[in-house]
Amino acid sequence: MISNKNNAKFITLEGIDGAGKSTHLNWLAERLRSHGKNVLVTREPGGTPLGEALRELLLHQAMHLETEALLMFAARREHLDKVIIPALREGTWVISDRFTDASFAYQGGGRGLDEAKLSILEQWVQQDLQPDLTLLFDVTLEVSRQRLSSNATLDRFEQEKQDFFQRVRDAYLKRAAQFPDRIRVIDSGRTLNEIQVDLEGIISSL
Ligand code: TYD
Repeated sequence: MISNKNNAKFITLEGIDGAGKSTHLNWLAERLRSHGKNVLVTREPGGTPLGEALRELLLHQAMHLETEALLMFAARREHLDKVIIPALREGTWVISDRFTDASFAYQGGGRGLDEAKLSILEQWVQQDLQPDLTLLFDVTLEVSRQRLSSNATLDRFEQEKQDFFQRVRDAYLKRAAQFPDRIRVIDSGRTLNEIQVDLEGIISSL
């Protein structure tokens, strides 16, 4: 844990591609602002100039799966140092569109990289820093595929096959079962309104 002013929180949003997290991210940031919080919205991979350059490579360039994991964590190291930790220290809430759970889900579950290797990278890059809250937007593959197919250009991850996403989803749900105090699973197959009622309850408990 890092010391921070005003008890600022670090919130991450996760889910398979097409789970609708971007819509909820903007809504959540606005709700927190309306509660008087300073909120910084950021994303992974990315969030810094170097991280965004790495994102471009990660999303479009074929590479070894370990290279992929190392670059994800390299971008994360930069993101923590330049953006996340300074913001929390000054009392700004941070909402990140994806964080380390995505590495366990995509590089671990999806690509099959040994979890022990990911844990070493996690420890190296974060020590004991973890999000205060992670919202896992969970949908069936059918719903996520429908949402993605309306998207004209698909990146390297979005082009993956059905069984890849099934493994990613399973890995996310396994993380949620492992860390029930941190990760809240949101059934994202419901209407926007129903989901927002849930989110409102969760943020007021923060
Ligand atoms: P995404 O967050 O879905 O952005 P957009 O909504 O703009 O498509 O895209 C990022 C992709 O990166 C997503 O497919 C998941 C992948 N990813 C990983 O594989 N590992 C990681 O550690 C992170 C942060 C993302």
